[in-house]
Amino acid sequence: MNITVLGTGNVGRVLAGKLLELGHDLAIGTRDPQATLARTDPDGMGNPPYRDWQQTHHEAQLLPFAQAGAFGNIVINAIGGDVALAALDAAGASSLAGKLLIDLALPLDFSHGMPPRLTIANTDSLGEQIQRTYPDARVVKTLNTTFCNVMVNPGLLAQQTNLFLAGDDTDAKTTAAGLVQQFGWPAHSLIDLGGIEAARACEMYMQLYFTLADRLGTFELNINIVTRNT
Ligand SMILES: NC(=O)c1ccc[n+]([C@@H]2O[C@H](COP(=O)([O-])OP(=O)(O)OC[C@H]3O[C@@H](n4cnc5c(N)ncnc54)[C@H](OP(=O)(O)O)[C@@H]3O)[C@@H](O)[C@H]2O)c1
Repeated sequence: MNITVLGTGNVGRVLAGKLLELGHDLAIGTRDPQATLARTDPDGMGNPPYRDWQQTHHEAQLLPFAQAGAFGNIVINAIGGDVALAALDAAGASSLAGKLLIDLALPLDFSHGMPPRLTIANTDSLGEQIQRTYPDARVVKTLNTTFCNVMVNPGLLAQQTNLFLAGDDTDAKTTAAGLVQQFGWPAHSLIDLGGIEAARACEMYMQLYFTLADRLGTFELNINIVTRNT
């Protein structure tokens, strides 16, 4: 399948690498491919420049957001939450219309230290803002509740854990569920939280996630939901 990952950061690369491994045709969206390939310094998190990754992943096409948006039958939003709407605007509403748009971005503000604050919360979420802005896209919030290495390889963790899906379009959630199952998430590990409004819960969990990561000394952690014996 043709899949687009919007975002050249670490998360975009990890997802793109997995999608290539699975045999999908892939485009990665960026503002300016030449500028992205010209960077030689690590990013703010110490990740090597994008071009190092591209050198070992020749099959991935690096395209401007507009062309990348048009390429995929599925589009994955792996952009920083503060600029995600700008990137989607560049991808273009007509390119997103009718498509599954997997949103894993987080509206985080690190300027006050850890854990980050949410810039959208309680009565709204980034997932809902994206769905409102692109009513013809079929937005599914998923994958955002764990670290990118775990998103594409849940077996990294010592036990089976859960992944959540929120979105208004049932068929889109089924397609998203199929994709994450390719990543290794068993069907029974997936929890459908209902409509896109549940993106609030997925995003607000980040306060606990970052607090846990700080206390446990690792980002490679996730939720395992256990209910009473029946
Ligand atoms: N780290 C994790 O494991 C994890 C887990 C869950 C969720 N997330 C979320 O996943 C998303 C991606 O994370 P990341 O660390 O890979 O991303 P990142 O490095 O913050 O974002 C990289 C992308 O943002 C684009 N960008 C930056 N400024 C822009 C602007 N003004 N307009 C349009 N695009 C702009 C960059 O474009 P260029 O390519 O042009 O530079 C690049 O493609 C974030 O929302 C993050 O919160 C991360």
